[in-house]
Amino acid sequence: MCGIVGYIGDKDAREVLVEGLKRLEYRGYDSAGVALLANNRIDVLKTPGKVTKLEEMVSGVQQAKIGIGHTRWATHGEPTTVNAHPHMDCTGNIAIIHNGIIENHSALKTKLTSLGHTFRSQTDTEALVHLIEEFYSRTNNLEMAVRFALKDVDGTFGLVVMAASEPDILVAARRGSPLVIGLGESENLIASDASALIRHTRNVIYLHDNEIAVITRNDVALKNLDDETIEREAEHLTFDLEQIEKGGFDHFMLKEINEQPETIRNAFRGRLIEETGISNMGGLHEVDDKITNAKRFVILACGTSWHAALVGKYILEQYAKIPVEVDYASEFRYRNPVLMEGDVVWAISQSGETLDTLAALREARKSGVPVYGIVNVVGSTIARETDAGVYIHAGPEIGVASTKAFTSQLAVLNLINLLVARKRKTISEEQGREIVAEMRKLPGKIQQILDNTGVIESIAEEFKDSRNFLYLGRGVNFPVALEGALKLKEISYIHAEGYPAAEMKHGPIALIDDNMPAVFIALGDSTYDKILSNIQEVRARKGNVIVIANEPDSRLKELARHIIQIPKTIDILSPILSVIPLQLLSYYIAVKRGCNVDQPRNLAKSVTVE
Ligand code: F6R
Repeated sequence: MCGIVGYIGDKDAREVLVEGLKRLEYRGYDSAGVALLANNRIDVLKTPGKVTKLEEMVSGVQQAKIGIGHTRWATHGEPTTVNAHPHMDCTGNIAIIHNGIIENHSALKTKLTSLGHTFRSQTDTEALVHLIEEFYSRTNNLEMAVRFALKDVDGTFGLVVMAASEPDILVAARRGSPLVIGLGESENLIASDASALIRHTRNVIYLHDNEIAVITRNDVALKNLDDETIEREAEHLTFDLEQIEKGGFDHFMLKEINEQPETIRNAFRGRLIEETGISNMGGLHEVDDKITNAKRFVILACGTSWHAALVGKYILEQYAKIPVEVDYASEFRYRNPVLMEGDVVWAISQSGETLDTLAALREARKSGVPVYGIVNVVGSTIARETDAGVYIHAGPEIGVASTKAFTSQLAVLNLINLLVARKRKTISEEQGREIVAEMRKLPGKIQQILDNTGVIESIAEEFKDSRNFLYLGRGVNFPVALEGALKLKEISYIHAEGYPAAEMKHGPIALIDDNMPAVFIALGDSTYDKILSNIQEVRARKGNVIVIANEPDSRLKELARHIIQIPKTIDILSPILSVIPLQLLSYYIAVKRGCNVDQPRNLAKSVTVE
């Protein structure tokens, strides 16, 4: 996720900014930059890659007492020097750093270009600095220019702006992306999280949505977008650096599980069209026809991403009526796969660097079929080597076990399904609208699950010493059972298997006794009655049944030892909800067993070996 740090005071801003950016490195980033203001001139230094590289560059420029710095996690445009922040206006007077997404950046760019502004980067942020420049040329006041500009902006922002012509202030604003102001002695700081400023001060003021801060060396003034003054007491931070980096959570994995309302919102942001019940993904515009007219999709992935692909198969075959084959990337490559004209290959990868997936997509390309990506890390090798694609925008995933990336992959597969199904007319406009409406409700429903983790924690306590687990689901929730089992194996080292619930009687049922917990996903869909029979089979052999359910009826209540209730949604979206209790169950079991949750043994975040 992008990081922000700004400084004004007596110290050497070069050092404060670089040190602050280093503190933000844990969030993940792919380029970094600073703007330093001295002698009525702004020097901008930026580079792809690490902050240490920026540090070397910064030592060669003039000292400054005011400046802004940024680490960028690419969303719009590759991680290049020109796309790195800060961005400058046309005249070199105004510099900006920005976290968030400006949704109407294309419309703003068209308008500003017609007014004579020249754009240099592919970022959404650049529209913002030219817009501020436009208002500055009319007001000659940076604070007013920012305030006016933000009224024309759709989207989210945490931003800091400075101008060579007003060398004593930083102007910051927030909507949806956090900003915290650090209050020092003859100095003030601003950052996207407190870890970047805690070395200088522990007295802070958090900026709220739709607020602007004008920060000078000795003062901080808060206002709303209507120019009304806001009074807010400073808070004193008592927690340590590590706690701040984890956003107050004990582990990155728990933080990332809890980010899912936001990451799902980000995956859908700007991509849903309510009126016509269809989706719109910029990265697929040029290949729309190829996708819509494809005869078959072949999806390649590994691990958790492979589970997402399996969910995609259920969804796309049911709604878009397109045959889908899902392959382990590592197997695809060596089995002389048959690809034909009309095939479209998709590679799904969180990191975009998994060698098995990369090798498989290179193999697929040899057949001349189009290869598209569903990737999290912008500018990663898979993103670069595919012909087109969709970013899932989950932000950096630091916990080795994938959680938020999985649900964002499902969100994007649903967007692709919606696009293809509507274009192929296998669903009506009305059905499309219903799906969009349900998609919009997902973040709130995820939050409901996250707000009720007590029962999951107590189940974890009861079963933390189990040696084996079974995970069972049907239909679109069968891959979720696989994912639940994988999560448990990875971080708690308990042996776990996932099966389609009905497959149990063909073998695995032999394992069941009163020591075996069986986790069922039994939502209120067409498979409910069948799953109840499968649950009965386990109960008859004294297995302990834990059920993820929507609205449990008396039959289920009688059979289950524990029920974890989740909100109802339509079947194709249900895996985005049903997997969350499974992520949490694995997490709490692993914690209670004393395992290293964020860095489980033998595992790496990005598997770049075959
Ligand atoms: C499981 C997990 C792995 C990855 C797999 C593919 O929690 O993280 O199974 O899903 O290594 O990685 P990506 O998606 O980066 O290609």
